[in-house]
Amino acid sequence: MAPTQTQKALVVSPTDTSRFEFVEREVPQPGPYDLLVEVKAVSVNPVDTKVRARRPGKALGWDASGVVVARGSEVKCFREGDEVFYAGDLTREGTNASLHVVDERIVGHKPRKLDHLHAASIPLTALTAWEGLYEQLRVEQGKTLLVIGAAGGVGSLVVQLARRLTKMTVIGTASRDTTREWVKKMGADHVVNHRENLPAQLAALGLKNVDFIFCCVGTDAHFETMAELIAPGGRIVSIVEPEQPLPMGKLFGKRASFSWELMFTKSMYKTPDMASQQTILDRVADLLDEGVLTSTLTVDAGVLEPAALAEAHRTVSSGKMVGKLAFRL
Ligand SMILES: NC(=O)c1ccc[n+]([C@@H]2O[C@H](COP(=O)([O-])OP(=O)(O)OC[C@H]3O[C@@H](n4cnc5c(N)ncnc54)[C@H](OP(=O)(O)O)[C@@H]3O)[C@@H](O)[C@H]2O)c1
Repeated sequence: MAPTQTQKALVVSPTDTSRFEFVEREVPQPGPYDLLVEVKAVSVNPVDTKVRARRPGKALGWDASGVVVARGSEVKCFREGDEVFYAGDLTREGTNASLHVVDERIVGHKPRKLDHLHAASIPLTALTAWEGLYEQLRVEQGKTLLVIGAAGGVGSLVVQLARRLTKMTVIGTASRDTTREWVKKMGADHVVNHRENLPAQLAALGLKNVDFIFCCVGTDAHFETMAELIAPGGRIVSIVEPEQPLPMGKLFGKRASFSWELMFTKSMYKTPDMASQQTILDRVADLLDEGVLTSTLTVDAGVLEPAALAEAHRTVSSGKMVGKLAFRL
């Protein structure tokens, strides 16, 4: 049984959705497949900033690292005291709270060598990068991959996974000195600038086409360039919803395919493969412990409190993030 005391949650202000406030709440009771987690750290993702205005009075935050304090009757893979990390479920309350319930099928065992702050910065971006690369693009050894927006939270892990696990030639895009340096540090073979002519820059590298494209930022803005650069039979994945209908016909001549990656789909629709997120997170934790992957945390935002969270939302929505930002509780 879960403890019955109250908990503290940091929610979007009901009267001004650009602000946050602490509230005392009843501790949520875990359902049959749920873990009740004492949250130790959370990270902020662009999704938090996108849904904030629609969630007055609700806790945001989907990435968390913490300790299991209670579990539902059907839970099989975790017990009280286990350290876990996960990206949560968009249809449920967020992780910006001292206690949080989450379905065990989307939870991984926290990497042993990372503290909670570093662990919390991984799950959402790692699931997106992993599913995009291996479930949607189905990337192959020895091929070429272009990662658009490679210095962001997701791009940083796409580059690491693609280089270190699949040993492809990886070209990442970045437009500033800081982001260029970061993308090289993540392991990209080449860095090109998404604010300049991409086909010309790739041609200068001896590349007319690329086999795969992972678009992390600006689906609309980059679509025509992606259609130009993709190799015949190549595959493109994007993680950003378009603002306009996309001119899909431009991919027809090359019979190139385009797919979407949304890491919330599995939990939102309780898909039959939902528990694959547990497998992915456990694998990512091992890769972090083995030093194959490295942490992407760049901003230790301190202790989670209202003004600091509002400031973090401004930083994350600036579109200039390098790696990830996280809070401890
Ligand atoms: N579908 C999913 O499951 C999923 C999961 C996670 C995130 N997302 C979405 O994916 C997007 C990226 O998330 P993130 O966490 O990686 O973002 P992020 O950390 O905010 O990305 C910031 C990076 O974007 C680059 N950038 C800015 N404008 C760009 C442009 N016009 N073209 C290419 N790159 C540009 C910047 O590089 P420079 O400073 O060098 O320009 C910066 O390093 C967000 O919209 C987010 O909501 C979707």
